[in-house]
Amino acid sequence: MLEEIKIAPSVLSADFTRLADELAEVATGDMLHFDVMDGHFVPNLSFGLDFLRATKSATELPVDVHLMISNPDEMVEKYLDAGADIVSFHFEAATHAHRIVSLIHDRGAKASVALNPATPVYALDPIIDELDMVLVMTVDPGFAGQRFIESSPRKLRQLRRMCDEHGVNPLIEADGGLSAKNASEVTSAGANVVVAGSAVFGAKDRAAAIADIRRAAQAGVSKMA
Ligand code: DX5
Ligand code: ZN
Repeated sequence: MLEEIKIAPSVLSADFTRLADELAEVATGDMLHFDVMDGHFVPNLSFGLDFLRATKSATELPVDVHLMISNPDEMVEKYLDAGADIVSFHFEAATHAHRIVSLIHDRGAKASVALNPATPVYALDPIIDELDMVLVMTVDPGFAGQRFIESSPRKLRQLRRMCDEHGVNPLIEADGGLSAKNASEVTSAGANVVVAGSAVFGAKDRAAAIADIRRAAQAGVSKMA
């Protein structure tokens, strides 16, 4: 059976003045991607706990909170309290990754580790068995609308191989610079969650944009080696 691809519209590119309407327009997505930036781990600020509570109250989709912050060890619990369904914290910022994963699981949420483009996949070898998802950045985090890093599919293939060696099958989420034009490049390399910010919220018809990305991403699966 062909793998089902999940599409995760990224709230960062929404019009915040009409958040509820924007979220209603992307209800055909499979999860909402929620980018938290602290102006320290990444050179940009986005939104935090109150905005997460508002988002949760306006969507039925699971919310996938991507913490681009320097102190996930201290902050993860607050995002769980605010309703995160999946929490992705950055490997580069975590002091005690196992402890954070256990905390997330104890609270009944799904645990994910995010990797910057320059962080090798093997960094996750000691922890991969415990993860529900791995987030592979396909741009350097910090901004929407950046260009996809072309070497990303190679890294996704390495991650898929590592998961196979461990006999585990976490979701693999690709994040940054993705659209209907290139989604198949990541899904043919093993990603099964495609984040899309500007490609969804930059389109007039968001449902059509999601459907286009889904079609392109799904076509990539059949090319998977
Ligand atoms: C980038 C964020 C991404 C961003 C994706 O730092 O982590 O999730 O919202 O936006 P696009 O799809 O426009 O690259
Ligand atoms: Zn993100």
